[in-house]
Amino acid sequence: MNPYKWLRRNAANLLYERRYGVRTAERVDLEDIGLAGEDRVYYAALNWRALRRALPVREVTSQDVFIDFGSGMGRAIVQAASYPFRRVIGVELSEQLTEIARQNVVAMRVRRRCGEIELVASDVLEYDIPDDVTVAFFNNPFRGQIFSNVIDRLLVSVDRNPRRVRMVYGNPAEEEYLLSTGRFEHTGTIVTRRNDPLGPPFGTIRTYEVLPKPGA
Ligand SMILES: C[S@@+](CC[C@H](N)C(=O)[O-])C[C@H]1O[C@@H](n2cnc3c(N)ncnc32)[C@H](O)[C@@H]1O
Repeated sequence: MNPYKWLRRNAANLLYERRYGVRTAERVDLEDIGLAGEDRVYYAALNWRALRRALPVREVTSQDVFIDFGSGMGRAIVQAASYPFRRVIGVELSEQLTEIARQNVVAMRVRRRCGEIELVASDVLEYDIPDDVTVAFFNNPFRGQIFSNVIDRLLVSVDRNPRRVRMVYGNPAEEEYLLSTGRFEHTGTIVTRRNDPLGPPFGTIRTYEVLPKPGA
């Protein structure tokens, strides 16, 4: 990255961390904390304010329940706290990152509008998706079979308890699988990083609406 851009991004991150009173910025490789595994992606936070751009606050009601699959140090949780969600849930593989997220939730200086915040340290493969989740957030947390397993179980949950569910997917590396299910309609895209070195769809956040099961 051009050093000027790098400096500008780091300075902006630092300012946001100070403003919100949290620690979320560093990257953590799962090898370094003994959790590396096939299809698991390292920790790096989404851009500040990206959630607000992808999901405007006016589109959320107090009936909505937010979940971040792979919540890391909780930056998306901190952002979701300022929406009127009934409940905000983070599920994260690393106990260490979850502990930092818990400290961030206690320390955060945000105008909190959400109800309960629940941070769970668990592999998503062992986590039961609650049947009241209505906004599913993924910031490219895992790929391949982990991703397809979670998506398949999200659809089972929607079919068991039919409801409106939206998905917000940052760096949507597995969009092809998502669309192949025939159950996700693409509803919007925002650009978070122009000319991402990995090329599109990296550098975007895409939103989708879960479609009802055919014939239901
Ligand atoms: C790219 S980071 C996203 C962090 C956070 N959602 C955000 O946007 O700020 C991906 C996170 O997913 C977690 N992760 C990877 N595989 C996982 C799994 N099988 N179960 C739960 N979390 C996982 C990683 O530990 C990492 O913290």
